[in-house]
Amino acid sequence: MHTIAITNQKGGVGKTTITAHLAVGLANRGHRVLAIDLDPQGYLTRHFGLKEELYRGEIDNIALHLTNSGHGDPTDLIVTTDEDIDLVPSNYDMRGVADALSNARNRERRLQNVISALPGGSYDYVLVDSPPNLGVLTDNAILASRRLLIPIQAEDSSLDALEMALDEIEEIEAAFGIDVDILGIAPNLVPRDGVAESTLETIRSTPGLEELVLPYEIRKRADIKYAMRRGETLYAYNDDSDMIPVFDRLAADVERSVN
Ligand SMILES: Nc1ncnc2c1ncn2[C@@H]1O[C@H](COP(=O)(O)OP(=O)(O)OP(=O)(O)O)[C@@H](O)[C@H]1O
Ligand SMILES: [Mg+2]
Repeated sequence: MHTIAITNQKGGVGKTTITAHLAVGLANRGHRVLAIDLDPQGYLTRHFGLKEELYRGEIDNIALHLTNSGHGDPTDLIVTTDEDIDLVPSNYDMRGVADALSNARNRERRLQNVISALPGGSYDYVLVDSPPNLGVLTDNAILASRRLLIPIQAEDSSLDALEMALDEIEEIEAAFGIDVDILGIAPNLVPRDGVAESTLETIRSTPGLEELVLPYEIRKRADIKYAMRRGETLYAYNDDSDMIPVFDRLAADVERSVN
């Protein structure tokens, strides 16, 4: 079982979009995939068309499992989406988790414990969609996965955001004595204009990043937004989209990089 977190503390760069499409892309390659929505905003849950009933429901939910160690069997949290991806949905209660954990023991290891309580061998990939900030939830995502995919948007502020993300990863590596593997930095929302292209070139030629930035981009496509609004991925919404082969390639690259 390979656990991968999709992280970047910068908001709106495509973490949730990439988590959803990578989940379906990996499933299409024959893998059993579990997606975990660790963002209190619950956008991944909504992306799979499941928002209201589960997110607003006062039911057993991931927040309880993160705040109370040994709360119960996390398998009970899993729902299957219309696109046949297993999902641990977010919940409104996730808003209080960072505060609730602020002085708790092992607060950064809660997700790791939840994932290791899942029945062994049931999934090939666990994908964790992270919230847009550095904090205990993102730390939990990094510690539970140790493999990261970092979406970026090709704009001037991306380099600063990336540096901050890489610093945080180094701090976590040092604090917990672990190695974190960056599978790739994925450029997303790339418009067809010279500015984005030249920004990407700068990022790609920055020492330390050359090897990490994927050699292809996810372009800005209205269909991606429309699909999300309908609670679907492009795979369900418009299989003819020119971004489908790109998401397929991402899934193939992720598969290769973990093996
Ligand atoms: N390649 C793309 N083309 C067009 N729209 C996109 C693309 N990628 C993402 N979007 C849209 O941009 C918005 C932000 O994307 P997304 O929610 O995936 O980012 P995020 O990093 O998860 O955001 P947050 O930080 O709030 O969690 C969404 O409305 C999404 O549908
Ligand atoms: Mg998101």
